Amino acid sequence: MCGIVGFTGRRRAAPILLDGLAKLEYRGYDSAGLAVRDGDEPAQVVKAVGKLRNLAEKTDGGAALAGCCGIGHTRWATHGAPSLINAHPHVSGSGVSSGSDAVESQVVGVHNGIIENCSELKAKLERHGYTFYSDTDTETAVKLVDYYYKKYKLGPVDALTRAMVRIQGSYALALMFQDYPGEIFAARKDSPMILGVAEGETYLASDVPAILNDTRNVYYIGNQQAARLSPGEIHFYDLNGDEVELPLTEITWDAQAAEKGGYQHFMLKEIHEQPAAVRDTLNSLLKDGWIDLSGAGLTEEVLQSVSSIHIAACGSAWHVGVAAQYVLEELAEVPVRVELASEFRYRRLLLDENALVIVISQSGETADTLAALREAKRRGARTLAVVNVVGSTIAREADSVLYTLAGPEIAVATTKAYSAQLMAMYALAVQLALVRGKLTEDEYTGYIEELAALPDKIARILEDKGRIQWFAAKFANARDIFFLGRGADYAASLEGSLKMKEISYIHSEAYAAGELKHGTISLVEDNTLVIGVLTQSNLYEKTISNMAECKARGAYLMGLTCYGHYSIEDTADFTVYIPKTAPCFTGLLAIVPLQLLGYYTSVAR
Ligand code: F6R
Repeated sequence: MCGIVGFTGRRRAAPILLDGLAKLEYRGYDSAGLAVRDGDEPAQVVKAVGKLRNLAEKTDGGAALAGCCGIGHTRWATHGAPSLINAHPHVSGSGVSSGSDAVESQVVGVHNGIIENCSELKAKLERHGYTFYSDTDTETAVKLVDYYYKKYKLGPVDALTRAMVRIQGSYALALMFQDYPGEIFAARKDSPMILGVAEGETYLASDVPAILNDTRNVYYIGNQQAARLSPGEIHFYDLNGDEVELPLTEITWDAQAAEKGGYQHFMLKEIHEQPAAVRDTLNSLLKDGWIDLSGAGLTEEVLQSVSSIHIAACGSAWHVGVAAQYVLEELAEVPVRVELASEFRYRRLLLDENALVIVISQSGETADTLAALREAKRRGARTLAVVNVVGSTIAREADSVLYTLAGPEIAVATTKAYSAQLMAMYALAVQLALVRGKLTEDEYTGYIEELAALPDKIARILEDKGRIQWFAAKFANARDIFFLGRGADYAASLEGSLKMKEISYIHSEAYAAGELKHGTISLVEDNTLVIGVLTQSNLYEKTISNMAECKARGAYLMGLTCYGHYSIEDTADFTVYIPKTAPCFTGLLAIVPLQLLGYYTSVAR
C-alpha cells in the first residue's frame, strides 16, 4: 500500500502536498518524495528514505520548493527495496540520485498499485532504447507513457490511455508532463484515488482525509478512467480517450473525524469510536423498530429465495465472515461458506442461481476481495458488499451494498470497521431468520433489543481498559501467545491473535481449542501466555479443560468470559469479564478487550 497526492492551484504546492501525505502516512512509511513545478521550469524532485518528517526536514516544510503544481508519494515497498533510488516520484529520463534534483524529463509520476506485466513492458521499452535506474514497476509505467507520448504525439491523455490498455495489474497514477505546466494527469484501475475541487484549486489523493482540510467536493474517478487536472477544473476520460461526465459528491463527515482528537494513536481513538460506529450502523438499518434491508436491494422476496451464502473477504474482514457464519447458520438456518478472497478464484464453487455471495471490506478496494466479487458476478451469483468507504470500487461493482457507518478508519489495524461489519452481519442474520420463518416476532424483537444494547456494553468494557493496559505491560516481552476458543469464540480468537501479531510483532496463533493438543501444544512451555475465549456457556467447560491442559505444561492463562462465569478463576491466572448478551452476539463484545490487549502490548514494547 502506498499513498499519492497531487495539487495544482495558486498556492505553493509543496506544503499542501506534505500535509496531504501526513494524512496518508498510514499507507506507507519507508520513503517519501515530491515533484513540484514552478511555471515552465522542469520539475524539482526531492525524496527521502524513512518517515515523512525526513522529507519535510529536507524541504524545510515545503518552503524550499517554489511552484504551485506538484505530486507526492509515501511508499510501502512492493517492487524494489526501500531506498532513495526506488522512492517516488519516478521520471522518464535518467534517475534522481541525490534525492533533490531538477529533472529534465518529459514525464514525472507517482503510483500506488502493482504492475503485473512489468517485466514484459520493461523489455519492450529496453528494445526502444530506454534504460532503467530503479527496481520499481512505477518507473516502467512512467516510461511507457513517455514512449506513447513521443511516438504518437497526440498529447498526454492519449499517451496515458494507451499505457492503461497495456498495463496489467492495479494503479493509481499521477503524472506531470514537461510540456503541460500547471497540469496533472491521472489514471486509476483497482487502486483508490479521489479528486477534489475548490475555487481555483484541484486536488488528488489516495484517500479523502488527505484533502479534507481544503475541500469537501470530490469526484470518485471510475475504474480504468483517466483525468486531466488544471487549477479548479477536472476533465475525465474513458479508455478510448472520450470525455465522460462524473458526478460531484460532497463529503459529509468532518476533518476532525480523521484527526487523532487527543488520543495517542489512531488505533486507540478508533477503538473508542466503536460504540458510535456500531450504533450508527445498526440505526442505519432500522426503520420503526424493524430491520429494513430494502435499501440494499434485499427485499423479503430476495431474502426468502437465498439458498446458500458464500462470504469472501481478507484478513480481519474474513474473521467477520467466520464469526457471522455461526450466527447466520444458528438463527437463519441457511448454509454458509466462508472463503479467503485470495483463494476464492481457485475453487470450483458450486453457486446455484439463488446463492448469495457477500464480500466484506472496510476500504472497498482490497484487490483480492474485488477479484472475488468479479468472479462471483461472472458466475452469475447475486452479490452483496458490506463496505465502509462510500463510492469505493467494491461498493460500485456489487449488485447491492450494506454500508457500515464507522467513519474514516485511519489505523492500519482495523477495529471500529470490524465491529461495524459484524453488526451489519448480525442484522442481516436476524432479518434473514425472520423472513425465513425461523424466529417469532417476539424473538425477533428480543434480538433487536440485544443488538441495540451492544454499544453501551462496549462502552462499559472500554471503561475498564486500565486492567488490560496493566496486563499488557506484564507480557510485553512474550515470545509466543496462543488464543483458544470454540465455535464463535474461535472467530474472536482469530481476530484477537491477528491484532496482537500485527501491531506488537509477537508471534501469535489462534486455535480452535480442541485442536491445540494435536501437535502445537508442544510449543507451550513455562510462562507461555495462553488466552482462552469462553463466552459460549455450552462450550465453557470444554474450553476450560483445554486451558487446563496448557496449564499442565506451565502456561500462564488469561480467561475472557461473560460476567457470571466466575469459576474461570479456579483455572485462569488473569480474567477479563464482558457483559452478557445473546450468545450469538458475544463476538462483538469479546473482541474489544483483545483489541486493547494488542494495542497496549505494542505500546508497551
Ligand atoms: C488487520 C486488517 C486487515 C484488513 C484486510 C482487509 O487489522 O486491517 O487484515 O482487514 O486487509 O481490508 P479491507 O477490509 O479494507 O478489505
